Amino acid sequence: MINISKKTNALGEALSTLRVVWRRRKGQEIPGAILDTIDVIWPEGKPRPLLTHKKQTPGGWHMIFTLMPGVSFNEFKNKTEYFSDACRGLVDIKKVNGFVHMNISTGSMENFYPYSFNPEDYPKMDLPVPVGYDSSGKLVVFDLAESPHLLVAGVPGFGKSNFLHVLIHALLPKALVAVMDFKRLEFAYLKNHCALARTEVEALALMKALNREMERRIDLLDAAGCAKVQEFKDDMPFIVLVCDEVAEIENEEIVYYIDRIVRLARAVGISVVMATQRPSKKLKIFKDDTRDMFLARICYQMADEISSRMVLGEQCPQAAYLPEIKGRGIFKYGMTIKEVQSMCLYLKDAKKMLEGTEKAVSDFAQCCSVKRLPPR
Ligand SMILES: Nc1ncnc2c1ncn2[C@@H]1O[C@H](COP(=O)(O)OP(=O)(O)OP(=O)(O)O)[C@@H](O)[C@H]1O
Ligand SMILES: [Mg+2]
Repeated sequence: MINISKKTNALGEALSTLRVVWRRRKGQEIPGAILDTIDVIWPEGKPRPLLTHKKQTPGGWHMIFTLMPGVSFNEFKNKTEYFSDACRGLVDIKKVNGFVHMNISTGSMENFYPYSFNPEDYPKMDLPVPVGYDSSGKLVVFDLAESPHLLVAGVPGFGKSNFLHVLIHALLPKALVAVMDFKRLEFAYLKNHCALARTEVEALALMKALNREMERRIDLLDAAGCAKVQEFKDDMPFIVLVCDEVAEIENEEIVYYIDRIVRLARAVGISVVMATQRPSKKLKIFKDDTRDMFLARICYQMADEISSRMVLGEQCPQAAYLPEIKGRGIFKYGMTIKEVQSMCLYLKDAKKMLEGTEKAVSDFAQCCSVKRLPPR
C-alpha cells in the first residue's frame, strides 16, 4: 500500500514538473508565468479563472479568462501585482462583455521620441493630447475634452513640465490655454499665446475671470437647453487651465476658485491640468474629493510605492519601479493603464514652432469672449 501511494506521489510530482517545463517553453514564458500564478492562488479543484484565449501582441500578450462561479472580477483584478511580478511586465486587467481581458506589456520601448504631432490626424477628438508611445510603438492619444481633468505627477527632473509643453502645443490650435506658473521662467515664452499668470496677484485675477466665464457659460448652456458644450451651436472654444507646481499654490482664494472650476466646469468646456511632485493630502489643493475629479493621470518616476498608489490608485505601485528614463511614465485613464514614453519638446524648438503665430492674450476675460483663435 505504502509503496503504491509513494509511486503515485512521485508520478504526480513528475507530471506537475513536466507541466511547468512545458508551460514555460521558449516563447511561452509570459503566459506560463501567469498560469503558474493562477495555480498558486486558485488551486485546481476549486473555483478558478480559466484561460480561454491567448495571443502575442506587438507589445506583449493578450489573454482572455472566464471566471468560474465563485471567483469575482474584483478578486482577480486585485491580484494584478502578483501577475506583474510573475511576468515582469505591466499587467492591465479589464472586463469586456462578461469576459476578463488581461493585457501584458513587456516590449522594450525606445528611450527618446522627439515632438511630432498633428491634432488634425484625430478628427473625432475635440482636444487630442499625445501622452507618449507605448511598448508596441503606438502613440497613445486621449481626448482631454472627454476626461476632462488631468493630473501629472513625478519626482523632480523626470518630465512633468516637458509634458505640459507638449500638451500646450498640441492644444493651442484648438483651445484657449491659461497657464499658472509660479516658477515664473519655464512658460514665459508663451506670454503672447496663452493667458499667463506668474504671480499670486495675476493668478487670482485669472481665477476670478475664469470663474466668471464658467458662470456665463453655465447660464448660456442652461438657456439653450444643452447639457454640454459639444451640443452648443455657437462658437464656444474649449479652455484649458494648466497649473505647474501646484504645491506652490497656498492662497486660499485661489484654491477655492480652482476647486470650483474642477468640480463645476466639466460640462462647459473648461479643463484643468495640474502638475505636482506628489499629490499629498498636505497640499492645499487636492483636498477631499477634488482629486477624484481627475480621471486621467500621468505618473512619471516616483520615489516609492505609496506615492505611486497616491497618484494612480491603490492597485498601481508601478511608477515606483519605472526605469530611470526621463519621460517614462504610467498613463491611467478609466480602466486603461499603460507604460508610455512621452515625446520630448525642447524649449528652443517650442519657441521656434510658435514664431509668427502671436496672439495678444493679456486679459483672460477678453480672451474668453473672442471667437476661436486663428489656425496656426
Ligand atoms: N520625454 C522626455 N524625453 C527626453 N528627455 C526628457 C523628457 N522629459 C524631460 N526630459 C529631460 O529632463 C529634463 C527635466 O524635465 P522636466 O523639467 O520636465 O522635469 P520636471 O518633472 O518638471 O522637474 P521639476 O519637478 O524639477 O520641475 C528636461 O529638461 C529634459 O532635458
Ligand atoms: Mg517642472
